[in-house]
Formats: sequence, structure tokens, C-alpha cells
Amino acid sequence: MFPKEMEWILESLFDGIYIADHRGVGVFVNCAYERITRIPRQRLLGKSMKQVVEEGIVSHSVTLQVMETGQSHTIRQRVETGKEILATGNPVFSTDGQLLWVVTNVRDISELSALYEELQSNKAELSKLQEESPTVISVSPCIKDVVKEVKRVAQTDSTVLLLGESGVGKEVFANLIHKNSPRAKQPFVKINCTAIPSGFLESELFGYESGSFTGARREGKPGLFEIADGGTIFLDEIGDMPLELQAKLLRVLQDYEFYRIGGTKPRKVDIRVISATNQDLSKKIKEKTFRADLYYRLNVVPIQIPPLRERQADIPVLAYHFLNQYNIQHQRNVGIDPQVIHVFQDYQWEGNVREIANLMERLVVTANETFIKETDLPPAMLQSGGFAAPMGLKRYLEEAEKKFLENALQEHQSMRRAARVIGIDQSTFVRKAKKYGINAK
Ligand SMILES: Nc1ncnc2c1ncn2[C@@H]1O[C@H](COP(=O)(O)OP(=O)(O)O)[C@@H](O)[C@H]1O
Ligand SMILES: [Mg+2]
Repeated sequence: MFPKEMEWILESLFDGIYIADHRGVGVFVNCAYERITRIPRQRLLGKSMKQVVEEGIVSHSVTLQVMETGQSHTIRQRVETGKEILATGNPVFSTDGQLLWVVTNVRDISELSALYEELQSNKAELSKLQEESPTVISVSPCIKDVVKEVKRVAQTDSTVLLLGESGVGKEVFANLIHKNSPRAKQPFVKINCTAIPSGFLESELFGYESGSFTGARREGKPGLFEIADGGTIFLDEIGDMPLELQAKLLRVLQDYEFYRIGGTKPRKVDIRVISATNQDLSKKIKEKTFRADLYYRLNVVPIQIPPLRERQADIPVLAYHFLNQYNIQHQRNVGIDPQVIHVFQDYQWEGNVREIANLMERLVVTANETFIKETDLPPAMLQSGGFAAPMGLKRYLEEAEKKFLENALQEHQSMRRAARVIGIDQSTFVRKAKKYGINAK
């Protein structure tokens, strides 16, 4: 039917694909379609869509709608196995305007919403630890590795430095470390070094004795190190800590002992330190705004969290996760046009997960139809690599090819090996990688 390579690519997609010819007869079904609908392809191939609807295999057909109107459509469908899916059909025309195929991609609605409901209703039954653990939503291997590492270091008392752009989830992981550590029942104290004026930061961290400065409380005040005793202290945006405080912090990290401001009696603390920054600390060390000795103390176990644009597979998952969350929170019931997800996958997400969460909340609240559509998106988003619906087959296949190559490269590390495994010449791989802007790590 199609060239072999094209079939491999279609088979490798996470989305379900169903293709009908110009008569509406099923000519291709990929394995993701079977996974999502639970309908074996034999029940669809060679059969006209009319017949498929008559036999009750699907409730109604997007293919027939596309054939009638010559335009793309998105519908909710119920299939005979009880699954509810979102189907988008796109017409593909020949150069002289004849309908050649109708390409439909399907996504699972019931699976996502059922999962979410199950998660909600089971929450009470989950163990205390799980219930309190923050949920990390991700399907990408790099985040799974981070979670694994986080859970492993959580068992120890090692000092952890979380690195990554703003909004990637550093605080989520700091929490996860604490909740999975033997200190889980003890306090978790967070301090954002940027948010507190540097004059106050010292008294926040170390506390003060009575009468140590004007305006100080009579009875003195414990600092966060004391409050965190026995537990974990999370120093967020550590790169913004003033130099003179860095020296004091270093002393705490060396001896686990400190003085309140104006105090003469050293105080012992038992704390685990996690810090985080989105800055390049080695650059700050060169500029002499960060102490090298403190850096080595904090950087015992560095954990790097990749930006969202480097884990494209997480984009749809997070979008649906926040869609559900905000639908529930704001008592709405809006869906999302798969085209929007395509735009999301091309977008840079400089604000990472925080940005996608905020955008989804806004879209859920402001959507005035049942579907969030491409036209609801901020215009700036569409300019940065978005494209207009309906997307042609060529573009779809290019997208798929790009993802396929990226996955192969990620899995096999070098272009040479990746090319061999997927059965193309290394030079072809290099050329295509260049075309799609894929870089070897
Ligand atoms: N993998 C994830 N799954 C679900 N929510 C996430 C995930 N990563 C981040 N978030 C959410 O995104 C927002 C930003 O995360 P945060 O940990 O504050 O980022 P950072 O500290 O790196 O700036 C928070 O609301 C957080 O709950
Ligand atoms: Mg943060």
C-alpha cells in the first residue's frame, strides 16, 4: 500500500492512525490504533466506513464527515469495546484536487480521564507516603531516570544540588526527595533566597537572640535551620545568595553548627540540605559572585532536570494532565483539539512545566466552546513554528520521521549506531538530522 519505510514510521507513532481511501474503505491501521481502541485491524481493513458504522464498531465516523465536506473534523467517538476516543480526520488531495485518502488520528480520552479519576478516588487508600509524595507526570526516559536517582539518593543524607531552568520541577523533586527519605515525617523547610531581601535572609536562616538589633523580638527568634532540625532544608535559588551569607552557610554545612545573630552559644542541627538553581554556578564562581568552596559542598550529588523542549513526549501528557486538573478545579468540561497539541510540541516552552500549567488553566477558564482550538492560543505561540490546520500528510510524515529519528538517536546514542539499527545509511541519517535540526548529544 505505502512504501515500507512509511509504514514503519506510521507504526512507530504513539497516536493511533486509520487511513481510508477515496471510497472510505480502510486501507491502513497502525498498532497504536489497535492499542487505543482495542479493535483488531482485521475488523476495519478492506471494509467501508459505512459498513463499520452499521456493524456498530464505531458510533459515528469522522471519515464520512471528511468525505462529505472535504474538510478536516474532530469528533468524540465511542467504539464497540466501550473506549471513548478523540478522532481527527484530515483529507489528502491529489494535485488536481481529487480526494486520495482520509487520514485519521485517534487519541484516548477514556484512558486519561479514567486514570485521573482512579488516581483521585484511590488517593485515600494509598499509603501515607505515596499520598504525600508529589506526583511527577512524565513518560520520557530522561525524567524516569531522574526519578529513579532521586528515590535512590533520598535514602541517604547526601547533599543534593538540583539544576535546571525555571519551571522544570526542581521544587517538585526536592519535595520528592524529602518525602522518600527517612526524614519524611520531620519538617521540610523551604527558603527562596531571591524572594527575601538580603538583610532579612540572615535572620530568617539563623534566627536571632533577644535584643540583638532594633526591632528584634524581645524573646529572640529561631531561624529556619532550627525549625528544620531533624528534617530537610531546601535552599531555592541558591545562586542568588549574597556572598557574606555564603561564608556563614558554608560553616553550617561543615560543622552542622551555627550561632543565632547576636548569640554566643553554638547550636547544633541535624539537617539534610537540598539546594537548587537555574544559574550557571561555575560562571558565577569565575565572576567571583559565588564561592567555589560552597559550591563543592552543595554539589555532592548534582541532579540535572532537562527543559521541557528536550522531552517532547511529556508535552501532550502534561497538557492532558493539566486539562483534567483545571477542568475539575473550575468545574468545566472542555476538550482539546489535537492540532493544539501539535502546536505545543513545536513550541519552545521557555517557562517549562510552569508555563504549560498556567496556559492550560487560562485556556480551560476562557474557552467558550467544548474544544480548545488553535485559534484560542496566544498569537506568539503560533508564530514560533506553529502551522495552520489541516496539516497535510507530507507534513505529518515529516513530523513523525523527525520524532522517529530523535527517539532512535536517544536510544542508541550515536548517529552511526542509530542509522544501523533503523536500517538507513549513516550519511542519510546525518542529512536528515541536519534537515530537522537534530543534534547528537
Ligand atoms: N513532572 C511534573 N508533573 C506535574 N507537575 C509538574 C511537573 N514538573 C513541574 N510541575 C509543576 O510545575 C510548576 C513548576 O515546578 P517547580 O518545581 O516550582 O519548578 P522550578 O522549581 O524548577 O522552577 C509547579 O506547579 C509544579 O507542581
Ligand atoms: Mg522554583
